[in-house]
Amino acid sequence: MSFRVVAPLAAPLVLLAGLLQTACHREGDATDLYVQALTASTLPASPTNAVADDPAAAALGQRLFFDKHLSVDGTIACVSCHDPAHGFSDPRAFSVGVRGQTGARHAMPVTAVAFQSFLLWDGRADSVWAQPIKAIENPKEMDLTRVELARVVATRYGEAYEAVFGALPKLDALPDRGKPGMEAWDALPADVREDIDEVAANVGKALEAYERQLTCADTKFDRWTRGEASLTDREERGAEAFVEHHCNRCHSGPAFSDGKFHDIALPSSDPGRSAGRTLLLADDFNGAGLNSDDPIAGEAKLASVSSETATVGAFRTASLRGVGQRTFFGHASHRSTLRGFIEDVYHGRHGGRDATVGRRDPLLRGVNVPHHELDEIVAFLHTLDCPPVAPALIAH
Ligand code: HEC
Ligand code: HEC
Repeated sequence: MSFRVVAPLAAPLVLLAGLLQTACHREGDATDLYVQALTASTLPASPTNAVADDPAAAALGQRLFFDKHLSVDGTIACVSCHDPAHGFSDPRAFSVGVRGQTGARHAMPVTAVAFQSFLLWDGRADSVWAQPIKAIENPKEMDLTRVELARVVATRYGEAYEAVFGALPKLDALPDRGKPGMEAWDALPADVREDIDEVAANVGKALEAYERQLTCADTKFDRWTRGEASLTDREERGAEAFVEHHCNRCHSGPAFSDGKFHDIALPSSDPGRSAGRTLLLADDFNGAGLNSDDPIAGEAKLASVSSETATVGAFRTASLRGVGQRTFFGHASHRSTLRGFIEDVYHGRHGGRDATVGRRDPLLRGVNVPHHELDEIVAFLHTLDCPPVAPALIAH
């Protein structure tokens, strides 16, 4: 059955008529695309971070994002793997951390993270602020321990930090390096460890305040839904195909991601969500922990995590905002072209040719993009290209 994506409409009544027309006869329809755009400019709250929308925290976060002193040997900053010129993702298949080391997953963009409930491919962070300490302490990424991090904050950011978060703890008589699992750290009194953890959490909260400004919100797609731009015929056919082939069963919401975890049967031995969820529940920096500014909200979010099913080999639905500006696709950079990825994953394989793939998510049932529509979907996805970032947001 064919249908048309409702053209951009200024008058709500006409829009409503369009919605009713398409809403009754298919499970995913053009109305969903509207929902995705209309909410893109409204950031969801981040209840566990009291300074999420504080400009002074964001300014501090911006400085931290570009600072190589956050790595053990002063060679790597957040921006080293999240390049503004590439939509804040990494143009390399695998990022390079300190001492030339590489990891096993692609560095996803930090744009549109404010719309995600769970961060990272396996969702092992339940807030944007809980994520940075994982990169900072990762021996393959920045390899700076939280004790060293607190020292960097005190020497380089003391004033800006204290203006937002209050007095820094005393840092003398601490070991050179210290994080959980290190003898020198585990030997410290609990209250000293808690003070340092608080600094690490606050670094995350400042970084979140910065990242919340990188929304990739005003794309051609958004302008189209507001009636300020028109799509080419090809882009519009792509929008129809996107809905018709059920892409928005999972790529839904303002980030074109449902924030959930699915196994789309990419070749990988990575356990994905099954490991990520265990790490999350044990994470000192999760939303139910000591450094959460709203542990009740944090606990409520974690409650759903224990009932998740089919988590082995499942990864968080990738955001499609800015997807056309990436150079690698899939959690382990499976393909280097957007068209190639869509063809590989969403053509034939699940619809018929390779129906035996056992682990795949039931929501992939019936997803089978014919060859002739691949280019149209790619054209549509390019309407989600992020506009250039305001220079003030990348000044450092
Ligand atoms: C050495 C490269 C590297 C550095 C340095 C790095 N990242 Fe990342 N980043 C990655 C990789 C790889 C992933 C995906 C990892 C995963 O899912 O396990 C990622 C994921 C993320 C995500 C998750 C986005 C999402 O949609 O869930 C955010 C946010 C992020 N990084 C922010 C930061 C910040 C802030 C810093 C600095 C404190 C930082 N990164 C430093 C490589 C890096
Ligand atoms: C069952 C849910 C589901 C459906 C349906 C689905 N996707 Fe995905 N998609 C995902 C998940 C999960 C990922 C990340 C998978 C990974 O890397 O392990 C993803 C990744 C992608 C990526 C790669 C993005 C990146 O940065 O790595 C593209 C492009 C994409 N999907 C497009 C589509 C299109 C087009 C359709 C419709 C034909 C579609 N998806 C249907 C869940 C889905």
